[in-house]
Amino acid sequence: MPEADRADVRRWSADLFASGAPDVIDSASYAIADYMTGLVAARRRSPGTALLDRLVAARDGSDRLSEQELVSLGVLLLVAGHKTTTNTLGNALLALLRHPAELRRLRTRPELVPGAVDELIRFDSAVSTATFRFTTEAVTLGGTEIPAGVPVLVAIGAANRDPQRFPDPDRLDLDRDASAHLGFGHGIHRCLGAPLARAETEIALRAALDRFPGIRLAVPAEQLTYRHTRLVRGLAALPVQV
Ligand code: HEM
Repeated sequence: MPEADRADVRRWSADLFASGAPDVIDSASYAIADYMTGLVAARRRSPGTALLDRLVAARDGSDRLSEQELVSLGVLLLVAGHKTTTNTLGNALLALLRHPAELRRLRTRPELVPGAVDELIRFDSAVSTATFRFTTEAVTLGGTEIPAGVPVLVAIGAANRDPQRFPDPDRLDLDRDASAHLGFGHGIHRCLGAPLARAETEIALRAALDRFPGIRLAVPAEQLTYRHTRLVRGLAALPVQV
């Protein structure tokens, strides 16, 4: 994605997750679909080797994607790959800033960062609910009967704090094996970008710990506010002193 377009894309993808604002979501989805249609056309005129070029080639070469599928996959990859990681980084850094002993331990032992990423994602999941599912048949879950053909939203953030699965779940414990968390979803629709997201989070956390030895919250944690969103959970801002 060209650097010059990033401010627009950032705004549209934030709007896509606005809570209780269907008009804002609607116009952002049209804007981002139009943008992706233009980007696909531009890549057709001068192809490169990026992921989008490969998807265009799959469409044009052997017709494995319809034009609409190509655009919607492009939008999905762009949005799913960007808001999620941004919010994960904010949530993870906040958790560490609020647990200075754990932060110090990661700084002195950076080899612990990969394992810590799972626990940080479990502890404060940036994707707080999955996308909609629909029941194909009636099911009883936790004593509640859910009829066939109704929408269901799985609360990933709550599942990741299930005390039966993660003892003392409200405690950040970088030594726990949190690898079975649901922060990337589960089953056939599990996050396609999980390995990339994990790498990005590791790299960014290591860089922040490395570069800013004195990093600390610039405001009391109680003053931090969260964006008014659906699906994703993330801070409006994370003011720090370095
Ligand atoms: C830390 C960052 C990320 C988190 C927490 C995250 C989380 C998730 C979750 C929970 C789902 C499943 C949603 C559901 O079941 O309804 C999902 C799906 C998906 N993610 Fe991620 N994601 C992250 C980063 C990325 C990145 C970097 C990419 C791509 C570049 C990506 C692409 C996708 C796609 C395409 C799907 C849909 C898969 C499908 O429906 O088959 N994600 N993600």
